[in-house]
Amino acid sequence: MEITSSTSIVGLIGHPVAHSLSPRIHSALYQSIDLDLAYLAFDILPGDLADSISGMLALGFKGFNVTIPYKESVLSLIDIVDPYAQQLGAINTVRIGNGRLFGHNTDGEGFIQAFKRENMSIKNKSVVIIGAGGAARPIGVYMAKESPERIAIVNRTFEKGKILAHLINDVTGSQIASPVSQIPENMDIIVNTTSLGMWPNIRYNPISGLSLSPETIVCDIVYNPRMTAMLRQAVSSGCQIVDGTGMLIGQALSSVQIWTGKPVKEKYWQIMQEELDKL
Ligand code: ATR
Repeated sequence: MEITSSTSIVGLIGHPVAHSLSPRIHSALYQSIDLDLAYLAFDILPGDLADSISGMLALGFKGFNVTIPYKESVLSLIDIVDPYAQQLGAINTVRIGNGRLFGHNTDGEGFIQAFKRENMSIKNKSVVIIGAGGAARPIGVYMAKESPERIAIVNRTFEKGKILAHLINDVTGSQIASPVSQIPENMDIIVNTTSLGMWPNIRYNPISGLSLSPETIVCDIVYNPRMTAMLRQAVSSGCQIVDGTGMLIGQALSSVQIWTGKPVKEKYWQIMQEELDKL
């Protein structure tokens, strides 16, 4: 794909953004399937958020992703927020159409796609989510929509785990989620949504000391390193794993679908995965 005068811009806003892998995986896809889009990362200072969005509107951007620390504060600047992003109180993808801003959140869907791609199911399974922050919310809500038997939330700050359980129960109209003080035994699915184990603190393992059954599926959203201490423990116990690149790619492809209407394809997934494999 060549950049020409008809190429549209999409991108990422956040602070900082230098570590982001999104420009790499998006660009690899656009090149490979000849999408006339260019994806750039913009490091936006907190006082410049509103101006930068006006600028993107004026320049005819097709849309943009939003990352830390703006996923919540951007909400008030968006014209139409989809009900799901509204419930989560967080946006990671904005589409620009006819001069208006449409807000979405593809994090939860991205995580579920990564899961389903491995032919794994959440239905009737017992799930434990470690963490209750910005990443845990979309994952928890989206997992709850897949009808698990229960969702236990373990968080360092118990009160925040309680708030997340309330949110999941409110959104799904169920009593499926509850806060717990430690990881229960014999859960079917364990998901780490914290940054524990991320480089440079790669020795941290949020399930250290837990005995795992080989039937347990262990997922980590940390992708740097890809094989975290938690996932290494899972593999040595014979468990199936989903590493953090799954959610990274899943949410990116959902954003592309929102911007271009192109549904997620296995081929697109492979292109992004191969790009990450080069790192
Ligand atoms: P993000 O948006 O990346 O999810 P966040 O909203 O700050 O970031 O949430 C980070 C999550 O990781 C929180 O659940 C946090 O626990 P607290 O609610 O107690 O802050 C959890 N977390 C971060 N560092 C941790 C640590 N060293 N031990 C245990 N939990 C940790």
